[in-house]
Amino acid sequence: MHVHRLEKIWLSIGISMLAIFLVVIAATAFGMGMSPPSEHHHTIDPTQVTTTAPFDDPGLKQTGDNRYEAVMIAYAFGYEPQTLEVPVGATIDFTVTSSDVVHGFEIVGTNVNMMIEPGEVSHISHKFDKPGVYLVLCNEYCGTGHEYMKTTIVVK
Ligand code: CUA
Repeated sequence: MHVHRLEKIWLSIGISMLAIFLVVIAATAFGMGMSPPSEHHHTIDPTQVTTTAPFDDPGLKQTGDNRYEAVMIAYAFGYEPQTLEVPVGATIDFTVTSSDVVHGFEIVGTNVNMMIEPGEVSHISHKFDKPGVYLVLCNEYCGTGHEYMKTTIVVK
């Protein structure tokens, strides 16, 4: 009788431990799932890029005092728009996606360097303090035209 009760106690402890364990796992998974999405990351349908805002209208838009958003699409093998003209001293918030495969987005002479994945929207900001012609290169191998994939940003 005494032993039986002890067994029951141990059994209930075991079940409690299991329950706690499951709650912890669930809470962890839930917590991760509920973590706020990074503001530098969101997804779109890569087959609908040209009809999905803001990529239905790529280019430069003024968003504030000396601040612009540059919406760009990387594709095999180039960037839309073909060239971008930005005022010197302005901060540019780049919003870039790919309409096909993984590409790169590197602005030579700056620390701007992103991987552009289809279905994902990438953001990076840069302040262009010096006038000039900045070369934008793809630094992810994306196919036969990879080495020709480039565009320019004219800062003046
Ligand atoms: Cu695009 Cu390499």
